[in-house]
Amino acid sequence: MLATDSKLPITEGADKRAYVRQMFADIAPRYDFLNHLLSLNIDRLWRRRAVRALGWERKPDGSYLDLCAGTLDLAAALARCDGFHGRVLGADFALPMLQRGQAKDTPVIPINADALTLPFRAESFDGATVGFGVRNLADLDMGLHEIMRILKPGARIIVLEFTTPAWQPLRGLYFFYFRRVLPLIGRLFSKHMTAYDYLPESVLAFPEPEAFAERMRRAGFRDVHFTRQTGGICAIHRGSRGPVHEGV
Ligand SMILES: C[S@@+](CC[C@H](N)C(=O)[O-])C[C@H]1O[C@@H](n2cnc3c(N)ncnc32)[C@H](O)[C@@H]1O
Repeated sequence: MLATDSKLPITEGADKRAYVRQMFADIAPRYDFLNHLLSLNIDRLWRRRAVRALGWERKPDGSYLDLCAGTLDLAAALARCDGFHGRVLGADFALPMLQRGQAKDTPVIPINADALTLPFRAESFDGATVGFGVRNLADLDMGLHEIMRILKPGARIIVLEFTTPAWQPLRGLYFFYFRRVLPLIGRLFSKHMTAYDYLPESVLAFPEPEAFAERMRRAGFRDVHFTRQTGGICAIHRGSRGPVHEGV
C-alpha cells in the first residue's frame, strides 16, 4: 500500500460506501467506453483470463456469481464461454450499472445487492468472480468472509484487481499516466469531477498483491496465489474454499 494524502473516501467505512455507490451510478453511461479507452482495450483480455482462471469447466452446468458486476462484462464473458451451460448471476449495488449491462442483452441474471450482505444462502455457488471490485468495498475483510460464506466447499474465487508495476521505467510511466493523464481524460468524458481521481487513489491505497493474498488466506481461503498481468498493472488472484466449512 502506498501513502496518499487523498481527500476522497478511499479508506474503509460508511463514507466510502455512499461515495462509491453514487459515483458508479453517476458514471454508468460512460463507464464501458472509458474502461476500454483508458486501458487501450486490455481490460477485455484481463476479463477473459480471469474467466479462464475460474476453472468453470469442472462444473459447466453450475451456478456462478460475479460480484461488483457493474455493466456485466465479466459475468457475460463467463456466460458466453463455449461449453458453458450453467447460470451466472451478476450482483452490484449501483442499479444504473446493472441497467447498462442489461441493455447489452447479456445472458446474466442481474441482482441489485450489496456484496457485504448478499441475499443468498450459504454454500450456493460453484464459483465467484470479482472484477475491479474488492478495492471499492467499504469493508474488505467483511467482503471476503461474505464470498467465503456463499461458496460451496471446494469452489473457487477469482479476483481481478489493479496494482502497480514494480519494474522501472514502466513504473514511472504508469504513475505519470495514472495520476496525471487518466484523471483528465476521465473527467473530460464522464463529466464527473472526482471519479477518475478516485480510481488511481484507491488503487494506490489498496494492499499490494502479496498483502491482499494474505488477507484472502486470513479470511480462510486455501490455495491462494496470484499472477501479475501486463507488466504488473493488474493481478489475477485465485483462492478456494476448503473442502469443509471451517467456521468462517
Ligand atoms: C470498477 S467497477 C467494476 C465493474 C465490473 N466488475 C468490471 O469488471 O468492469 C466496480 C463496481 O463495484 C460495485 N460495488 C462497489 N462496492 C460494492 C458493494 N459493496 N456491493 C455491490 N457492488 C459494489 C460498483 O457499484 C461498481 O459497479
